[in-house]
Amino acid sequence: MTDTLNSRTADALQTAFGHAPDLWVQAPGRVNLIGEHTDYNDGFVLPCAIDYRTVIAVKARDDRRIRVVAADYGHATDTFDLDAPITPHPTLQWANYVRGTVKMLAEHLATLGLTLRGADLAVAGNVPQGAGLSSSASLEVAVGQAFKALLGLDAVSQTDLALIAQRAENRFVGVNCGIMDQLISARAEAGHALLIDCRSLGGQAVHLPDAVAVMIVHSRVKRGLVGSEYNTRRAQCEAAARHYGVAALRDVDGERLLRDRGDLDDVVFRRARHIVTENARTTAAAAALAAGDLVRLGELMAASHVSMRDDFEITHPAVDHLVDIAQQAVGHEGGARMTGGGFGGCIVVVLPDARIADVRAAIQAAYRSPDNESPTIWVSHAASGAGAAT
Ligand code: GLA
Repeated sequence: MTDTLNSRTADALQTAFGHAPDLWVQAPGRVNLIGEHTDYNDGFVLPCAIDYRTVIAVKARDDRRIRVVAADYGHATDTFDLDAPITPHPTLQWANYVRGTVKMLAEHLATLGLTLRGADLAVAGNVPQGAGLSSSASLEVAVGQAFKALLGLDAVSQTDLALIAQRAENRFVGVNCGIMDQLISARAEAGHALLIDCRSLGGQAVHLPDAVAVMIVHSRVKRGLVGSEYNTRRAQCEAAARHYGVAALRDVDGERLLRDRGDLDDVVFRRARHIVTENARTTAAAAALAAGDLVRLGELMAASHVSMRDDFEITHPAVDHLVDIAQQAVGHEGGARMTGGGFGGCIVVVLPDARIADVRAAIQAAYRSPDNESPTIWVSHAASGAGAAT
């Protein structure tokens, strides 16, 4: 797959700018196994990178100009200058992920007494877009990785790259996301999920048991309300943290949640209960996965889905139905839950390799979206994070 993306980006670079690349980098999309909406509460998440990625072919320039060609957008190009203020592109949304990341990277380098140089970039990817699999994080991280590799920026760690990418998304693109997507894209290890402590940004790689697969099923429910509802959930979590007198809901445990509930609004209380219980489930799920205990993992994933459905209210009836179908099909040999920001998008199923064919067939037979579409199903390994694309 990367081979194809490498040749597509090389061709795009040659056609648009007339030269061959110095190097290629890649950064993957992600799927979250458990730990939803916990990242911006300083909590725990357990994502893994997937076999779908953004690849960038890079050629150094001698000046301070950046030129970008997007092979997936009709070979559209964007050009901007490092010596002028970097502002949003008036029409090309994809270009803003590049511009935003370059701007935040330049600002970060300035604090280290370092400067960026110009480059020509050609971008192509195969992360499904609009599915909640972090195609935008993979693009941002790939842009950062491109300059890190080209300029040998050893002072910029993979965690720095993730923070720079998140800043681009928050401050330039205008999406108030947490750190999970960028961090797993930058730091994933092949064959492993990563238990991330979103306060310390420490990570613990958790080996996926041999012969266990990650299946991603797209409900084909459009993720319409995701932006405004995401911000509402964030505000409710912050209100709950203020009620409990803590920096973030990470600091509340199950006992305190009930003891100090007081006159907390019922909706805000249920939002907080999702976060508090989800944090506990996520660390427990990491332990279950490490022990190869798919029965326990399945129970925790099922409880996570119920909590997202009833307390955090971010699922959708069709997605709930899809999760039911997947859970029935997998039985006690794995688990299924909605994954990502919510309000549609994908579910994740963890299951033995030997069950892939029949679970896939069961889902295909039983599920249709509200618009009567069949689900889209991908099976992925836990891929490695950003780096050279070979
Ligand atoms: C989106 C955000 C992440 C995270 C998830 C929910 O993917 O980008 O930061 O908050 O939603 O877990």
